[in-house]
Amino acid sequence: MKFDTPAQNNPVDQLKVVGQPRDRIDGPLKTTGTAMYAYEWHDEVENVAYGCVIGAGIAKGRIVSMNTQAALAAPGVLAVITAENAGKLGKGERNAATLLGGPAIEHYHQAIGLVVAGTFEEACAAAALVEVQYQSEGGDWDLADKKPTVTEPPEDSPDKKVGNFNGAFEAAEVKFDATYTTPDQSHMAMEPHASMADWQGEKLTLWTSNQMIHWCHTDLAKTLNIPEENIHVRSPYIGGGFGGKLFLRSDALLAALGARATKRPVKVMLARPLIPNNTTHRPATIQRVRLGADARGHISAIAHESWNGNLPGGPTETATNQSEFLYAGANRLTGLRLAELDLPEGNAMRAPGEAPGMMVLEIAMDEMAEKLDIDPVEFRILNDTQVDPADPTRPFSRRQLVECLRTGAERFGWQARQAKPAQVRDGQWLVGMGMAAGFRNNLVATSGARVQLDAGGVITVETDMTDIGTGSYTIIAQTAAEMMGVPLEKVVVKLGDSTFPVSAGSGGQWGANTSTSGVYAACVKLREAVANRLGLDAARTEFADGQVKAGGRSLPLADAAANGVICVEDSIEFGDLAEKYQQSTFAGHFVEVGVDCATGEVRVRRMLAVCAAGRILNPKTARSQVIGAMTMGLGAALMEELAVDTRRGLFVNHDMAGYEVPVHADVPEQEVIFLEDTDPISSPMKAKGVGELGICGVSAAIANAIYNATGVRVRDYPITLDKLLNGLPDGV
Ligand code: MOS
Repeated sequence: MKFDTPAQNNPVDQLKVVGQPRDRIDGPLKTTGTAMYAYEWHDEVENVAYGCVIGAGIAKGRIVSMNTQAALAAPGVLAVITAENAGKLGKGERNAATLLGGPAIEHYHQAIGLVVAGTFEEACAAAALVEVQYQSEGGDWDLADKKPTVTEPPEDSPDKKVGNFNGAFEAAEVKFDATYTTPDQSHMAMEPHASMADWQGEKLTLWTSNQMIHWCHTDLAKTLNIPEENIHVRSPYIGGGFGGKLFLRSDALLAALGARATKRPVKVMLARPLIPNNTTHRPATIQRVRLGADARGHISAIAHESWNGNLPGGPTETATNQSEFLYAGANRLTGLRLAELDLPEGNAMRAPGEAPGMMVLEIAMDEMAEKLDIDPVEFRILNDTQVDPADPTRPFSRRQLVECLRTGAERFGWQARQAKPAQVRDGQWLVGMGMAAGFRNNLVATSGARVQLDAGGVITVETDMTDIGTGSYTIIAQTAAEMMGVPLEKVVVKLGDSTFPVSAGSGGQWGANTSTSGVYAACVKLREAVANRLGLDAARTEFADGQVKAGGRSLPLADAAANGVICVEDSIEFGDLAEKYQQSTFAGHFVEVGVDCATGEVRVRRMLAVCAAGRILNPKTARSQVIGAMTMGLGAALMEELAVDTRRGLFVNHDMAGYEVPVHADVPEQEVIFLEDTDPISSPMKAKGVGELGICGVSAAIANAIYNATGVRVRDYPITLDKLLNGLPDGV
């Protein structure tokens, strides 16, 4: 189905099942431990063996020698795989560094070997016996050092200019210019990267934990130099991804190589301390924001520039995205700069681009509002735009930023905030309020599904869409139930399998809207097929209560499949509505913090997010997405930072003891409000993404609340107490 004109009324608008706060249909499997994760499929195979991954001990250079004799002789060892004996490997389209390194080493903890043994313990013990001698080379590991050398944008993303920024900034009555930093961050999904591989002749089955089945499938075929049809990827349950499992990673490749060498099924899990350096991370940024306005607060000039580093072939962090669209202003400049660094590969982490971009832009807006002596909520509202500021003929499909901010201010009690910082005390705590806008673009991509009706009236949906803890199973079941007029219990959803139609996958907050739209398209086809079988006029058929009704007749839906199942397949393909309209999602984030007046310890006390993100397909699962994202924004504001050893080129705190994320005790009262925002431009579902919107702006709201509490402005994340201590008010 081609989607190239705004959606009309359709069966989803009934909202009998879609839009309802239904419990997760996979919930019982998860809470009883019976949902199978990647490392748990041993009952599907016999005689499984275990791999232990060896990570490079240097960040850049060469392996001079690798002695595996002792490891091979150790108890239980079946094979030691290295680049030398692995055969000729290709490289996936989406990997910057090779997944099995050697002799050249491209980054610290790059996989250089896999020891396979009868037990996990034997594999690990033997891995410790592998002797590696390296020739270390110097490298570039410090973004701030490299920054002055990067003056041109990457070829594929030229600077964007509207009007004359320099002239307008120069002429502005009030000017603001500041530079901020965000650190490298790690996804830290609860489930580590893990895979099990099993070869039957030329055919490989890979059980893994991956957000994008099609990317994993095609890149594994490329890397192994074998036909795609010889690989079957299965990833039905995923314990969190956050972008860290978008791509084929070393666990999957090494499991396949280990199984091929030993002729046994092999499991490989990346140990937690290996993950931050071996896989991808959110790259650090240095960002400069300049704002010029008239004395009444209208922005006339806005510039946002961002620098990040990456291995050759790694992507640019597009942290200036939102600054093209969020606020009005006739003169604009946004630009990206990419430095070559020898740190591990940077790539997408929840809301790549906007997450770090909004961390910065929304502090800058707070600082500018103060300079102008305007309330920060009013300053944003004053500079709202209903069209793309670079092209006034291009409206937003829907844009309710102002409503988000007004609703949030009212609900949060914003009017009680003291504009002057460090005015409010509660015992030992300095108390402050902060806010930020939230913004994340709404992306769409082709997504396919297969649906089947059987004689029992059961609808089975198959798509290679994944559920990374987000609720995909449930919203897909809701969609099929609504379309076919059956209760949720009559729908079976099967996901995460490369034999199913290719979906948009779980990424960039496009998953919910696009995968359900693919299911919608397939269900439209199924409705036609059912009507034809029953001899009803397809155009006038109603599907409700397990019945199909047309022209005064009503027949049980199941009757259509009495003589054999009906199975159809379709996909949603998006036309140019995303070009004609700017499609984005909006939020208002409000936060109250307490800062210990003696120690500088920050405790977030209350958080509120008001979101406008299209039709909300399931308010319960959507709320879970937003509170999870708000929690991640809290981590980014106060705790999360991969510490770079700039002499040796690695992330030092590469485990969950050293890399801090919020725990329950850190997370306060969180409230989420969804505004009514049905968007017929986005898809037949009239929904948009929400899973990444929830993080965008949160950290800045916390930073702004800390400033309001203490009078200390911190421009370098995370805001740890050492950055506050010297600035805390005297005599408290
Ligand atoms: Mo998302 S960072 O594209 O999983």
